Amino acid sequence: MKFFLDTANVEEIRRVEKLGLVDGVTTNPTLISKEGRPFKEVIQEIAGFVDGPVSAEVVGLKAEEMISEARKLAAWGDNVVVKIPMSEEGLKAVYTLAKEGIKTNVTLIFSVAQGLMAAKAGASFISPFIGRLDDIGKDGVELVSELKQVMESYGFKTEIIAASVRHLQHLESIALTGADIATIPGSIFPKLWSHPLTDKGIDDFLKDWETYEKKMKQ
Ligand code: E4P
Repeated sequence: MKFFLDTANVEEIRRVEKLGLVDGVTTNPTLISKEGRPFKEVIQEIAGFVDGPVSAEVVGLKAEEMISEARKLAAWGDNVVVKIPMSEEGLKAVYTLAKEGIKTNVTLIFSVAQGLMAAKAGASFISPFIGRLDDIGKDGVELVSELKQVMESYGFKTEIIAASVRHLQHLESIALTGADIATIPGSIFPKLWSHPLTDKGIDDFLKDWETYEKKMKQ
């Protein structure tokens, strides 16, 4: 299973990258807007040190606009993947871009049908948003599991990025579905390697060691 970082914050990415846990990065217009820096500068900086795909999203809604933005974004780095929102226009753009060899990540996927259409149009990645589905009382993890089954049944090479991950249980459940990738916000990452019982265990061991050392010196 691969881990992408769902952030445009360079410090967050560098912190997790030092642990060998970053296989790629996803951004979106909201995440870019939080950084208050030029879009191109942020994406090029991230793409320059991350060894894996870095998604940058188009904002045009017409296929022609998406295609021309995508060509520009893809030229920012060999590992830049163009994020295209799911829509009829988006599918048209994905189909054209795939023929040009430009990799796409179709975002805002909320159903099996949408995922299937994106894969068929030639998407390299599809991003089902599990947290936003949970927000409306649906089961986001189940969607990932169904998409995985469909991709495997028909031999699509499209990889599934479980997105909109909100907590530790999401990640654990996604891992059980066999999803190819989870994209995780920087704020959630530390929760993945921490556990209160681990912290308590370390404290207890250190206390016992101090007692032991004191005894041995007597
Ligand atoms: C994925 O590519 C998106 O950037 C992201 O996961 C959206 O997450 P949110 O629903 O928490 O905004």
